Amino acid sequence: MSFTIVEQATPRLNRSELAVPGSSPQMFEKAAASAVDIVFLDLEDAVAPDQKEQARKNVVQALNEVDWGTKTVSVRVNGLDTHYMYRDVVDVIEQGGDRLDLIMFPKVGTAADVYAVDMLVTQVEDAMGRTKRVGFEHIIETALGMANIDEIARASRRNESLHFGVADYAASTRARTTQIGGPNPDYGVLTDVPEGGGDRDYHWGDMWHYAIARMVVAARAAGLRPIDGPFGDFKDADGYMAQGRRAAVLGCEGKWAIHPSQIALANELFTPPAKEVDKARRVLAAMEQARQEGKGAASLDGRLIDIASIRQAEALVAKADQITAAG
Ligand code: GLV
Ligand code: MG
Repeated sequence: MSFTIVEQATPRLNRSELAVPGSSPQMFEKAAASAVDIVFLDLEDAVAPDQKEQARKNVVQALNEVDWGTKTVSVRVNGLDTHYMYRDVVDVIEQGGDRLDLIMFPKVGTAADVYAVDMLVTQVEDAMGRTKRVGFEHIIETALGMANIDEIARASRRNESLHFGVADYAASTRARTTQIGGPNPDYGVLTDVPEGGGDRDYHWGDMWHYAIARMVVAARAAGLRPIDGPFGDFKDADGYMAQGRRAAVLGCEGKWAIHPSQIALANELFTPPAKEVDKARRVLAAMEQARQEGKGAASLDGRLIDIASIRQAEALVAKADQITAAG
């Protein structure tokens, strides 16, 4: 183990994260009553320029009046390159009461961006005497943000999660995509001609593999949650599940839902299977028994349990307990 201890961000369930346009207040109650873990009220790309001010008012009102229950509530503000951002931040903190948990920053490009917004948020909080500290979610969705991802991840103690914004990322990198968050048939491998002739196979690859794996490393190295972003075709549940499963395998902790129908899919994808949780509990029980007997190692089902498997078991059980506590 390194002498550098990675401090973990505030633990929260983040299996599903629902995008709700700030300009659509009729959707707020439904979002609050849904099974989603985190709701983000959007002031950015889902809101047209001539609706920005009204959307901000709607979001402030919703923070005060909607019963969000035990959900985590976030607001996606506009980018640092717009004149909307400072007032988004000031108004939601000054007027949104205590219910606001997180602010999501889009298109973060450098650690200095995070430093700047931390300064602004800190001033507004201090002026308000707010004791609940707002956490930060950052969307990595530009080439610049990806190039500076490690510094961004470590730029503020408010940081909680990094999100892969695949749509803007594709635009920024000029990647060739066919649909938001899905694979591209042109990104594949043609197998060699089999010996003696015959048909060659063509395997589709995952064009998002590098970006998501890179984000997972940066986030985990800084104690943050890596979250996979949108999947555009909400009628394609199988496509959503396939992409989400790839992200989960790489270490992501959750995925966006851009439509309510994707919430259950994300919760299913990122809820550890009962069988795995049960095994993890047995690992911890076996280890505890070994400890009481003065032994340093234990075995379970004929296999040695090492420290790494205990750490994995603890993480899994902690997640399962969080899910149970959330009801
Ligand atoms: C999300 O904001 C995205 O651009 O994918
Ligand atoms: Mg975006």
